[in-house]
Amino acid sequence: MDKRKLMPKRQRLDGAVRTGPLNGPLHSRPLVALLDGRDCSIEMPILKDVATVAFCDAQSTSEIHEKVLNEAVGALMWHTITLTKEDLEKFKALRIIVRIGSGVDNIDVKAAGELGIAVCNVPGYGVEEVADSTLCLILNLYRRTYWLANMVREGKKFTGPEQVREAAQGCARIRGDTLGIVGLGRIGSAVALRAKAFGFNVIFYDPYLPDGIERSLGLTRVYTLQDLLFQSDCVSLHCTLNEHNHHLINEYTIKQMRPGAFLVNTARGGLVDESALAQALKDGRIRAAALDVHDNEPYNVFQGPLKEVPNLICTPHAAFYSDVASTELREMAAGEIRRAIVGRIPDSLRNCVNKEYFLGSGPASSAYESTGAPGSGPGGMPSLPAGLNGGYYGALPGVPVQPAHSSAPVGLLGPGGPMSSLPTLPQLYSIRIVSNLRLREGP
Ligand SMILES: NC(=O)c1ccc[n+]([C@@H]2O[C@H](COP(=O)([O-])OP(=O)(O)OC[C@H]3O[C@@H](n4cnc5c(N)ncnc54)[C@H](O)[C@@H]3O)[C@@H](O)[C@H]2O)c1
Repeated sequence: MDKRKLMPKRQRLDGAVRTGPLNGPLHSRPLVALLDGRDCSIEMPILKDVATVAFCDAQSTSEIHEKVLNEAVGALMWHTITLTKEDLEKFKALRIIVRIGSGVDNIDVKAAGELGIAVCNVPGYGVEEVADSTLCLILNLYRRTYWLANMVREGKKFTGPEQVREAAQGCARIRGDTLGIVGLGRIGSAVALRAKAFGFNVIFYDPYLPDGIERSLGLTRVYTLQDLLFQSDCVSLHCTLNEHNHHLINEYTIKQMRPGAFLVNTARGGLVDESALAQALKDGRIRAAALDVHDNEPYNVFQGPLKEVPNLICTPHAAFYSDVASTELREMAAGEIRRAIVGRIPDSLRNCVNKEYFLGSGPASSAYESTGAPGSGPGGMPSLPAGLNGGYYGALPGVPVQPAHSSAPVGLLGPGGPMSSLPTLPQLYSIRIVSNLRLREGP
């Protein structure tokens, strides 16, 4: 029986074990909330001396406890919750969100920055796992291992070469084939290096990279997606999903692929128009495809356009996972929250992805380094809301001295003059914990 069904969301928060004394350190410590999960066992040892940690296990902000919405200064989140501008505005004290993962497409990072909330990710985790999983999928498409194993499992007997030939029809040789990588970032490069060892001729398309990377990695670069699709026997997607590349692979671009090419997607489901892919698989225009990510997750094999489509391998957005990577990921995410608490935002953060929105027109510290007057930046220029360490919520026209989403007393945000030493989160926030909100403290 699913225990979660028996336990209403609010009761979970209220009913969780709180080991700290009510009048103890909880009162003066920042509140950090894990939004879409409940296991904080790895995060807790990293954060417990500087923060109180709550878990919400929510799938939308409507399920998040009011106390967390009002008082959490830090949030950790997986990819099973989405934070739009409207969601972000519900948080009254939030200053840092850390995505436990690398993709931040489920957070409106621009809106967050404009609200003074730094968004960080954990870009380095699981690179090898995703690259290995990608190769595993590519090899399955070429060697048909998955389908052959299923035949054996279903009891099919291979009594002679004819049956083997019939069953293994479509198995292809890799050496000499061209693998086209879309997006040569961390994972794309790791896939490229592995694919070369298998004999692939590797080409890539990534319009955001400067010239020269192709030389250091010994790859061939193409400058249009059309060129890549035209030349590739197998296309593997490794770009981030952004507002410019939704359904990058669609009915039109599929027609630019080589007839009978393979497609692999371990990046983001939104990159592929699943209806167009389904049609191409049915027509044999795409010979076979492997998807770890889907437009709608969790993926349901019995629903949607890909239902009963031939020559398709689907895995459940698990390419990143290994026991080691999972632990590392959570440690790195908690470490970033810790740096935000004991250090300065955004200077102390390693992987802030929305600095350009967060800092507005200039670095946060510049507001302090000039006249010291609230709203005054270098050279007397007005400063934008600078987040926690900016200290001031600048006097730009239309920008309130204390933004609506902030619950911090204005007096704590800066003494009104140049600050030689900027305040840290614990100094800025005195978190009130009401008696009926039970928070997890300690493992
Ligand atoms: N399946 C999983 O479990 C899993 C795990 C981690 C990451 N991912 C996904 O893998 C992808 C790659 O992650 P990463 O860490 O290598 O990211 P990255 O930021 O290091 O690299 C992404 C690259 O894509 C390029 N790019 C962006 N838009 C492009 C476009 N339209 N065409 C071509 N290139 C484009 C960027 O310039 C960048 O070089 C992301 O989508 C990420 O969300 C999936």
